[in-house]
Amino acid sequence: MHARTPKHFVLEERLERYADFIEPAPQDYAGRWAEACYPLGGPTTPAGAGAQAGAAARTGRFREVRLDLGCGKGAFTVEAARREPDVLFLGMDGEPLCMAYAGGLAAKSGLENVVFLAWDGHRVTEAFAPGELSRIYLNFPTPFPRKRQARRRLTDATCLMEYRRILTPNGTVRLKTDSRPLYLFTLEELAAAGYTVLWTSEDARADFPDDPTSGYEERLAANGAKVFALEATPGPAPAHFSPTPQRGLVEYLPQDLEKLDYVPLGMEATVWNMRNREAKLWAKGHKGTGRADNNEKTS
Ligand SMILES: C[S@@+](CC[C@H](N)C(=O)[O-])C[C@H]1O[C@@H](n2cnc3c(N)ncnc32)[C@H](O)[C@@H]1O
Repeated sequence: MHARTPKHFVLEERLERYADFIEPAPQDYAGRWAEACYPLGGPTTPAGAGAQAGAAARTGRFREVRLDLGCGKGAFTVEAARREPDVLFLGMDGEPLCMAYAGGLAAKSGLENVVFLAWDGHRVTEAFAPGELSRIYLNFPTPFPRKRQARRRLTDATCLMEYRRILTPNGTVRLKTDSRPLYLFTLEELAAAGYTVLWTSEDARADFPDDPTSGYEERLAANGAKVFALEATPGPAPAHFSPTPQRGLVEYLPQDLEKLDYVPLGMEATVWNMRNREAKLWAKGHKGTGRADNNEKTS
């Protein structure tokens, strides 16, 4: 899932060119994002956004700060920022190439309410003060399907416990994914971390057709993906939190693979292996899922 460097693309040169839009040390701004990024004279106002931006101009700070965690090349972050000029949108990603693209997009947009943070999402609490973020978007987070990679998922309960600290009291986490296994896994992790699920959708493109879309959403929807989405807010913190057992996403696939009309991102090889194994067993006259073996492979 690493982005490839195109020909004639010099990463360092791009990062330098768009340095005004890429913050490599976000911890320096923890607790003061809304004021520190506020432009002199108030945010630039696209037609129709006057009242909102006017309100922000009176306070000298952005109305809200939201984070697009694992923002990739930043298409969603920039489009969301364009629609709400009085909200500061921060896109965070650990991949320098993504930051170079995202910085370029922000520069071209002319917007003053979008900044990209070159930072690891597992250290997100260092970049923000308690209660600083009103929303964390997780758009098509890397699924890390193998059992031994489970802790790297940005919707693991351990991560969700961290997000509780930096969200406002009514703050929310919004997930979008093409992966039903990741969506089901996330619902379990949210429960373990004491979140209340506000809504879910098993076809977010139909349910929210006007939402800004991310790069992966465009790409995967063109391949026939349905988008699973949810929004959740922290409820009372669990009295005794302990990390959930690590699980491979293969455990969340349907028992009957015939029912799987779309293979989620990152699970192509796993499903291909499972189908092959089933076909071989079938040929031998022993129909079975081969799931136990596959779990070993994905652990
Ligand atoms: C599948 S892409 C989705 C990108 C974008 N959100 C979209 O929907 O187009 C996942 C992104 O998450 C980033 N990512 C994965 N783990 C991360 C972490 N721990 N911290 C920051 N970014 C991470 C990857 O570098 C990648 O750009």
